[in-house]
Amino acid sequence: MVDEFPAGSLGEPSAAKVEIGLSREEFAALARHLESLATALSDAADDAPDGITEAMRMKPGMTMGSSLLGKRAGGAAEDDPSKMPAEHVFHLMLQDCTNCHAKFREKRQ
Ligand code: HEC
Repeated sequence: MVDEFPAGSLGEPSAAKVEIGLSREEFAALARHLESLATALSDAADDAPDGITEAMRMKPGMTMGSSLLGKRAGGAAEDDPSKMPAEHVFHLMLQDCTNCHAKFREKRQ
């Protein structure tokens, strides 16, 4: 993702905001965080049985951190996604989508 938004491609007619160029490191951190979650989920899918097991489910108390602004991606206290239930990893991925779009993607009709 980091390579797909070079300087000069930001702003109209793209929905990619010029803020990407101003906050490269934050954009890249979000992209890398999403990548690490997606890799963990993909690995888990490779090993998954046909049905949904208890181990894939989120446990009570695993919050999604529902603030619209979200928490910062890639925090040091983040757990290892390869050890999380797949459902939780998936929710964390969606949080990365929202976090990045909120700051770096232009709202269009
Ligand atoms: C690191 C930042 C970032 C992350 C993370 C991210 N996106 Fe995006 N996304 C963007 C930007 C920027 C655009 C606008 C691209 C453009 O218009 O050129 C976009 C556009 C899109 C679009 C519209 C594409 C189109 O053809 O107009 C979809 C759909 C989308 N994202 C889905 C997702 C999903 C689903 C996730 C999570 C799995 C995700 N994105 C994660 C930055 C991100």
